[in-house]
Amino acid sequence: MTARLPAQRACGPADSARPGPSRDLYCIELFPTEQALGAVGTAQLDWVPGPFTVSVTRDGTQQFNVRFSLRGLPPLPRGGAAGYVAWVATPTMSHIDRLGTVGPGETALGPVAMDRFVLLVSAEPDTAARLRRGPLLLRGESASNRLRPPDLFQFAIGATGGTMPPGEHQHMAMEDSLGWTGVPMPPGLVMLPAEMALRPAEPAWLPAPVAGTPTARAPEVLALGNGDTLRLEAGLVLRTIGGRSYTMFGFNGQQPGPLLSVRQGTEIVVEFINRLPLPSTIHWHGLRLDARFDGVPGTSQQPVAPGERFTYRLRFPDDGIFWYHPHVREDIQQDLGLAGNILVQPGEPTWAPADTQAFLILDDLLVGETGLVPYGRDSPTHAAMGRMGNLLLVNGEPAWTTHVRPGERLRLFLTNAANARTFNLSLGDGVPLELIGADIGPFEHPVSVDHVVLAPAERYVVDLRFPRPGRYPLLNRVRGLDHLYGRFFGVVDTLGFVEVTDGPVARGTGGPGDDGTVRPSSRASDIRAILARGADAPMRQLELGVSFEGLPFISERLMRLDSIYFQPVEWAGTMPGMNWATLASQAHWRLRDLATGRENHAIDWHFPAGSLLRLRLVGARDVLHAMQHPIHLHGQRFLVLAVGGVPNTDLAWKDTVLVPAGGTVDLLVDLSNPGPWMLHCHIAEHLGAGMMTTVTVEE
Ligand code: C2O
Ligand code: CU
Repeated sequence: MTARLPAQRACGPADSARPGPSRDLYCIELFPTEQALGAVGTAQLDWVPGPFTVSVTRDGTQQFNVRFSLRGLPPLPRGGAAGYVAWVATPTMSHIDRLGTVGPGETALGPVAMDRFVLLVSAEPDTAARLRRGPLLLRGESASNRLRPPDLFQFAIGATGGTMPPGEHQHMAMEDSLGWTGVPMPPGLVMLPAEMALRPAEPAWLPAPVAGTPTARAPEVLALGNGDTLRLEAGLVLRTIGGRSYTMFGFNGQQPGPLLSVRQGTEIVVEFINRLPLPSTIHWHGLRLDARFDGVPGTSQQPVAPGERFTYRLRFPDDGIFWYHPHVREDIQQDLGLAGNILVQPGEPTWAPADTQAFLILDDLLVGETGLVPYGRDSPTHAAMGRMGNLLLVNGEPAWTTHVRPGERLRLFLTNAANARTFNLSLGDGVPLELIGADIGPFEHPVSVDHVVLAPAERYVVDLRFPRPGRYPLLNRVRGLDHLYGRFFGVVDTLGFVEVTDGPVARGTGGPGDDGTVRPSSRASDIRAILARGADAPMRQLELGVSFEGLPFISERLMRLDSIYFQPVEWAGTMPGMNWATLASQAHWRLRDLATGRENHAIDWHFPAGSLLRLRLVGARDVLHAMQHPIHLHGQRFLVLAVGGVPNTDLAWKDTVLVPAGGTVDLLVDLSNPGPWMLHCHIAEHLGAGMMTTVTVEE
């Protein structure tokens, strides 16, 4: 394989010129026991290669391959079967699993899928034995194991500064002078009094209801041909969920917006009309289009004022599943429902035809006792981890349903339009999913998976079949982390159902050639050709970090305590109060060019069109709040070469990639499309807090 970036290791020597994954999070020091005083070792937690840059099990538990590196081991007991064996155990040692034999030097074992664990190395008289009997030589614990239940200091701090009068708990629904009521608490979690008293220092904003606002309709499918013009109007819609009505936004009265279906190579015109109470634009996420129509205020156009219009000319050089959304205050506009899909069909079919196709736009909405939790009027709230909703939606509905027959090929096009939430989707009891496509077209080799990890703005295409009738739930299964009690917990949300009912298979969109296999990707040669050219492409490194300013004492102290450990992905909103009250004006999320130290818009990279770039994204660990970032580059496409230095073997063209907290991702970027293009985090509140730069590709 070519185009690989220089090696990087969590357990390797620190190299500031070539930073790797965080040693603190992804390298376990192994300490010797009295039986092995001269022994030293480390265990590196490596990415388990696969189609997603974060590797979890179907239930959402983080998993790693473990690379042991051992020296100075004492002599083995006599006997032909003797050897060194590595074990993984729960922190209490209530459960111990044999990982495999190890020796001096390096041994890769795993995967290990546990929230918190300890690693042991022993000398065994019989290496095949399932139970540990020999002397313990080395041991170490996962970083997650540093979390300890209630920390007195934390409680003491949480109890101070609480300005809340007695009885406030019951009156959280009352508005304060800036228009805020309380923020809802995830079930089973506790907020400290001082955290409960936090409010964003910013006026609250929600769209005012207007009489005669239409009820949101489901998206229509619009097949558009070369030269066609589409009129797309953003405006208010009403949506009723669980008996409550919300004033939200839609395109052409639809939520999600209409599904645009075009052929690769087509050009269309979109007449955008803004009937929102806010300025707006439309960004065509993932398209390698003309930069003048990219929809970025300040870079490609002026914001479209309420009542005004703008004409976009779109072209579709790539096939795949794309989407469109505003690029102004995404934390409000995208969150209130402004998102739609674009299906670009390849000139030559890449995939066997499906019997049924379904397009799923995943989202979440934050709802409190009195309705939608308002947005910050002039600055996004939730600027720590992003606004996580408590109502999970597919296509704007809490219980999406589709119907298929047994044996039919169902194709799901998945798009994550949430502000901040990363999903871990699965169907029923682990129905096998054939993962055939990513953001921009097919995988080189389709792969069978039982779950799909989908960060904001990412897309995946999966095929599946149900042999038997039944009702199969679409689930989001993740692990939450209660920092206050140092406790991991499972969260399962049902997003909808696939109803499989008996009857003849309707060969819908069919056509000849459905032999049950997915054809090899015609794009594979394209991918290989770019890889071959990538070996000597220039390399740049961007660090993803944050600093805060003017936080309330309580938020600052709690964040500092929480920084003992960070999950690779924050899957669930488990610190709602201080996250909510943190404004984008207090959080300086940044991209930093490691060569120059420049940040965000000061970076100002220029490259010639037709060149390639090796880009390493480095998640900073030593910041007050480290977390994952879905990084998106406009108007170009890239390949994921490696995660944490472990090469990727599941290649597909992408435009958005999830960088785990304290982790690294290496990309090969194909800079084919001239123009000024945004590179940014797709967590709406991080973008709102400035986590962006412009990459200029020169003609
Ligand atoms: Cu989907 Cu710059 O965004
Ligand atoms: Cu981010």
